[in-house]
Amino acid sequence: MKILLIGSGGRENALAWKLAQSPRLSKLYIAPGNAGTSDYGTNVDLNPKDHSQVCQFLADEHIDMLVVGPEEPLVCGLADAVASCEATAHIPVIGPKAKGAALEGSKEFAKAFMQRHAIPTARYLSVGKDNIEQGRRFLDTLKAPYVLKADGLAAGKGVLILDSLEQAKAELAEMLDGKFGAASSTVVIEEYLSGIELSVFVLTDGSSYLILPEAKDYKRVGEGDTGLNTGGMGAVSPVPFAGKDFMQKVEERIVRPTVNGLRADGIPYKGFIFIGLMNCDGDPMVIEYNVRMGDPETEVVMPRIESDLVDLLEAAGRNRLSEKTISVSPQVCTTVMMVAGGYPGSYAKGTPMSGFDKVEGSLLFHAGTRHDGDRVVTNGGRVIAVTSLGATKDEAIARCYSNVDRIEYEGRYFRRDIGRDLDKYMSR
Ligand code: AMP
Ligand code: GLY
Repeated sequence: MKILLIGSGGRENALAWKLAQSPRLSKLYIAPGNAGTSDYGTNVDLNPKDHSQVCQFLADEHIDMLVVGPEEPLVCGLADAVASCEATAHIPVIGPKAKGAALEGSKEFAKAFMQRHAIPTARYLSVGKDNIEQGRRFLDTLKAPYVLKADGLAAGKGVLILDSLEQAKAELAEMLDGKFGAASSTVVIEEYLSGIELSVFVLTDGSSYLILPEAKDYKRVGEGDTGLNTGGMGAVSPVPFAGKDFMQKVEERIVRPTVNGLRADGIPYKGFIFIGLMNCDGDPMVIEYNVRMGDPETEVVMPRIESDLVDLLEAAGRNRLSEKTISVSPQVCTTVMMVAGGYPGSYAKGTPMSGFDKVEGSLLFHAGTRHDGDRVVTNGGRVIAVTSLGATKDEAIARCYSNVDRIEYEGRYFRRDIGRDLDKYMSR
């Protein structure tokens, strides 16, 4: 089977690593990929926004399946384009069409979907310029802190959590005035949920589903969960506060109604659903949907999946997921994201990296890296995810940190406390 994988992050390196283990894979292309993905396939310079270029490549190379890593191409209709082009319409796409991708592309759509299908989530009001007064009154009914979300995609920056009511009202006006461009012409105001967050991943063909290993990620740049939000500084799977009872509630109250809701709404959906959840005193509440895998969660989810990923994805693409089960390793997987100094603010690119050959017992999933002649240089804020399996979380994390210390580049930074907050929930 020939597969084209779209994306260039640590998530795509982890997916490429896993796909490449399948005896069923004959050729893997990654567009555009990074210095790590080229170990598992051929990087190709395609622009995912150029749908006709992607369709041409799929047809010319006789690709059997398209796997889309990031959300943006899906929200922009890449899966629709592949389905509507005669030469590519037969190719299964892992990733929904634009209508389903609105679960991530529009917070207002996602909240209305959850309300319609009685899926537990925070109380909310969707506000535009025409009902800003109603928005202010809704804020008056809530307790601090106040959560304001830009409706559209805002590169992970569109959520504000504010302590004062005055500040929330001022920000609401600024957002509607274009603080995040068109993405905030509608703003979702939400009740604040307190609890502890985790990420749950589902693979679906639109009627059946498989629940993949869950994970916890570390979003803040600083140790002890301080400082600015990032794309993610590390991750751990499994999550000790997501036991069997909790995960059963997640499946019954959230996963099943989500998949059934999509079908009831006439939205065909093949691909991943990433459910950002809050564990509120043992009850799961949805914070957000994403229509892709998480990054860096994928880096800890893929190593725990024992089943053949090509097989599972093909079954999802061909409406045959009900025939499949998933086998998951009991081992703990952890990842530590090494980033460029300054990230998530401004940072250097093109910095030479070394030490890869000294790494022992960890997997390296490249994120922002590229080849520069024979060298590997940095090419983004999140640079490389050092990932390890272990019998216990402590064993896995110790392995990560021993190898983190072997990878060198100027200005490198990482959090030294990944997974430490979980000690209070651990039995192993
Ligand atoms: P989102 O982009 O919707 O995932 O929001 C980004 C982050 O803001 C989430 O990962 C949460 O940490 C936080 N957040 C979003 N919505 C809420 C909420 N209703 N209550 C508490 N925290 C929230
Ligand atoms: N790690 C969170 C995300 O991928 O959105």
